[in-house]
Amino acid sequence: MVKKLSPDKLTVALPKGRLFDQTIQLFNSCGILDRTVSQNSRKLILETEGFNFLLVRAKDVPTYVEYGVADIGVAGDDVLLESGADVYRPVDLGIGACTIMVAGLPEDRDRYFSNPTTLKISTKYPNIAREFFGKKGIKVQIIELYGSIELAPLVGLSDFIVDIVETGRTLRENGLVVIEEIRPSSAKLIVNRVSYKTKNELITDIIEKLENSLVKG
Ligand code: PRP
Repeated sequence: MVKKLSPDKLTVALPKGRLFDQTIQLFNSCGILDRTVSQNSRKLILETEGFNFLLVRAKDVPTYVEYGVADIGVAGDDVLLESGADVYRPVDLGIGACTIMVAGLPEDRDRYFSNPTTLKISTKYPNIAREFFGKKGIKVQIIELYGSIELAPLVGLSDFIVDIVETGRTLRENGLVVIEEIRPSSAKLIVNRVSYKTKNELITDIIEKLENSLVKG
């Protein structure tokens, strides 16, 4: 049982969920991790010779890194923007590409573009949604959900949703369409600002390994 993480090793926060398998593959391919790991593991700390890996919920990765419990981590722009965490983002990892979108039922498209009054928006990204509509001068009521966001307009919980779209399959299978693009998102390596100074050699080595593997494709 690990009570304290060894300070000599780098501690890495791995995001459970859609980025997990691609992150493990990337870390395998550049020699950071020498084994496969299942995100269904009940064990939440994995120790290797050089690293402590923490299996955390994707949304929590910026928190672990910002507070310095993890020195580095992997997080999508969607999660980073939503959290507003103060961390370095030195490498775009070229995985987890998706787009943050406004989506809804096709018959509601005209209402969206015709100076609507208050729109009801369901999302797991309340901060991103508030900022986006604030800049457009559209009043919104945000209804925060934690998953299956596409259900909300189908059952009248909200007029539209703000969510990530990767393949577009979830929208299609639920008869929803993209109304407007907010911004693209991809996974970033994130680094704690203090660790970047105190463990600079170890972190620079990781950054180089990741960048080399990205160049090779
Ligand atoms: C995400 C997102 C969409 C879906 C988009 O959900 O919230 O629902 O993936 O992917 P697609 O365009 O390839 O269909 P996730 O799988 O994380 O599950 P959740 O509904 O539990 O949040």
